[in-house]
Parts: sequence; structure tokens; C-alpha cells
Amino acid sequence: MDLKTTNMNKTISRRRLIVCAWIGAAVVVIGELIVGSFAFLWPRKTQGKGEKIFVAGKVRDFKVGEVIYFRKEKTFIKKLEGGFLAFSAVCPHLNCVVTWNEMLKKFECPCHGAKFDPNGEVIEGPPPRPLDLYKLQIVDEKLVVDTASPMVRKNFDPSQIVKG
Ligand code: FES
Repeated sequence: MDLKTTNMNKTISRRRLIVCAWIGAAVVVIGELIVGSFAFLWPRKTQGKGEKIFVAGKVRDFKVGEVIYFRKEKTFIKKLEGGFLAFSAVCPHLNCVVTWNEMLKKFECPCHGAKFDPNGEVIEGPPPRPLDLYKLQIVDEKLVVDTASPMVRKNFDPSQIVKG
């Protein structure tokens, strides 16, 4: 009788162990799903420094009047007589990404019809200010753009052109 009781207790104990293991595994999987979903949906507040600074190319590779788009960095580089401008492609109205219309020589926002001149100033539509500029430096004959802190401006000024 004692033996039977002991065996039954062992069986119950093993069953409990298996149930607990399943519950534990289910908790881990559900927890990872919840944490993963929040991590995916929550916007990242900071990026690594390397993600914000990029080399756009060599100075001599740009032609005067040319506007080149860097999709990943959402940045336009414009070569002017005597220098460069680096524009943020993010519309200052409601953050849509603008495009460059080479035929009309304008930046255009697809969301609410805004248009910006080649220096990024608003010529049509609701944006409250020109396209923001990024800090641009020429290092070893290469254009280095820092997209960490866009420069908000009221209008275009030739002093914004980075000589090069
Ligand atoms: S987001 Fe560009 S005009 Fe509204």
C-alpha cells in the first residue's frame, strides 16, 4: 500500500512538472511576443552616431545645378556655384518625404501639394518654413553630412552655402 501511494505521488509530481514546464514555456513565448510587438511599434528615440553621419561622395563628383537624393538618409545634396547645400527631404508641414522635380526645378511634397524652390524655400502650399538643412562639412575632399540635428531656418541665405 505504501509503495502504490509513493508511485502515485511520483506520477502526479511528474505530471505537474510537465504542466508547469508547458505553462512556463507559454509565458516566455507570450512575453516575447508582447515585448517584441511593443519594441517594433515604439519609435526609436536615438540612433547610433554612425547612422546619422554619412559620406555623400567626393566634391568633384557633383556638377553645378545637380540635386542628388540619398534615399536611406532622406537627404538631398545640391551643388551650387561655389558650394553645397544639404536639405532634409522631410517636409516641414507634416513630415512627408518630398521629391525633386528635375524638369520644374522644384521640390514637391506629395501629401498636400507643397512646392519648394531649388534653395528649399516654400513657393506653394501649407509648410510653415523652408526645408531644413543638415550640417555639411568637406573632409579630405569628401562631403560629410550630419543628419543628427536639422537646421530650422526662416528663409534661404547665401551664408548657408558650404563652400567647396
Ligand atoms: S506634409 Fe508636405 S505639404 Fe503637408
